[in-house]
Amino acid sequence: MDTSRFLAVLTLCLQAASAATLGVVSTEGGMVEGRNHRLGLFRSVDIFKGIPFAAPPGRFEKPKPHPGWSGVLKATKFRERCLQVTLLQTGTQGSEDCLYLNIWVPQGRTVSTGLPVMVYIFGGAFLLGASNDVSFMGNSLYDGEEIADRGKVIVITVNYRVGTLGFLSTGDASGPGNYGLWDQHAAISWVHRNIRAFGGDPSSITIFGQSAGAASVSFQMLSPYNKGVIRRAISQCGVALSPWALQKKPLALAQKVAQTVGCPTQEGMMGCLKITDPVALTKAGKLALEELGDGPVVFSLELSPVVDGDFIPDLPSRLFHNTAHIDYIAGTNDMDGHLFAGMDVPSINQNNKPTYPEDIRRLLAGLTAEKGEPALNSSYSTYTRSWVPQPDQDTIKKTVVDIETDYLFLVPTQTALYLHEKNARGARSYSYVFSMPTRIPGFPRWMGSDHAEDVQYVFGKPFSTPLAYLPRHRDVSAYLIAYWTNFARTGDPNQGESQVPATWPAFTSSGRHYLDINNKISKDSVKRELRTRFVHYWTSTYASLPTPCP
Ligand SMILES: *[C@@H]1O[C@H](CO)[C@@H](O)[C@H](O)[C@H]1NC(C)=O
Repeated sequence: MDTSRFLAVLTLCLQAASAATLGVVSTEGGMVEGRNHRLGLFRSVDIFKGIPFAAPPGRFEKPKPHPGWSGVLKATKFRERCLQVTLLQTGTQGSEDCLYLNIWVPQGRTVSTGLPVMVYIFGGAFLLGASNDVSFMGNSLYDGEEIADRGKVIVITVNYRVGTLGFLSTGDASGPGNYGLWDQHAAISWVHRNIRAFGGDPSSITIFGQSAGAASVSFQMLSPYNKGVIRRAISQCGVALSPWALQKKPLALAQKVAQTVGCPTQEGMMGCLKITDPVALTKAGKLALEELGDGPVVFSLELSPVVDGDFIPDLPSRLFHNTAHIDYIAGTNDMDGHLFAGMDVPSINQNNKPTYPEDIRRLLAGLTAEKGEPALNSSYSTYTRSWVPQPDQDTIKKTVVDIETDYLFLVPTQTALYLHEKNARGARSYSYVFSMPTRIPGFPRWMGSDHAEDVQYVFGKPFSTPLAYLPRHRDVSAYLIAYWTNFARTGDPNQGESQVPATWPAFTSSGRHYLDINNKISKDSVKRELRTRFVHYWTSTYASLPTPCP
């Protein structure tokens, strides 16, 4: 064969190699076309951005099916986030027309079929966030390409309504609430109905999320509406049992919003709210930090899911029978509460400022306020029992972080694992703690992994922005992606396309194993009894203390 013919054949081969792409895909609403991103000779990812999974939603209404479109929808741009307050809460951004999702499909030599599907639900306190939230490097924090390519799974990120428009509730039929949860459910259902056309397996859907997204994952598992749709789930640092995840007195909060926007607070409140400027409604739903006084910051997180008698028919702890067939990974970061602890007791982050045992008493008094002095005393002695007579500053400061981590994240997550395991019918449970030391400069040297630090590793940022990270960060990122995508494929984080550094045993009520995840995983990273004494304190001793009448 002469050189020119050889080159011609080679060109044809390369075209064939890069030709493994979906092109135009037919969905229930119409045809969509994304973009193929080439990563190597026989490796690429098809990316679809901004596919509508529901119509633009009516205000304080459940999402409705999209009417569809004619022609080919160019799915190459992220759509706007759902209307929300800005990070500093001084303005708003986004749109009410926001119910869109994004899809990453890994391709090899031939077009993929039958892939496991992972649907990500973003976090942001049910107040902020978007499926394409920006990371510090400018690209989307939740870009699905690394997970899709490394784990050979389809990754989907979805939008849902947040803040007032997503979660305001009157606690009755006039404004039942949970609109953001219904949006998530609509997105998951859309994926179930349409993902086969993208090469996905609709019987292998894993939902995963972090913080409010992790609590959302938990609520979606608990809802009877997702029966048979969700196969597996991963909660990173949040569950429906978290004290910030459920609003128990929604009416008072709705009335506060109504008052702020000039609506009546009794008769006609919902009618008035529905015709109120959505920007004003959104602004009225910001965090009321100034009303907190001395109380813990967690109590300012108010706009949350509710027991609505429909999507969430009962208290979350009574709904675990609905999770019987869903495999579940749940865990927290070892210093998940640090972000909140630093706001409640700022001295923990200041080297030259001591933290006193009185600061711990004040924090516990706030957290246990509903049960009064007996709860304060018993919680204080639980957290100081192992102290030496004159504890050093690191001990006192770390105790503040432990208290917030346990109360906000770790204890509710462990409780969810116990309930899941107890109700499981063939489904498996896995427990972890993520302990990669922080990358945030200026924090104390004892610092572990703060709230939300896991997200960058799960989304493979150390690979997509390598200059910002070190090899050890790529190690932990590879481990997380391997466990997560193996789990999505087989229900067992140890089995699948990817090698893992240690075998992670399932969580059982007798074994109580968990995996300590960082860049140095070995067989010694498999541990037992994660903070059992403190889990027992909050779920048993504290829970059985009476709540005095106000
Ligand atoms: C709580 O502890 C304080 C200080 O040690 C003590 O004076 C008080 O009697 C205790 N209260 C209860 C209800 O145990």
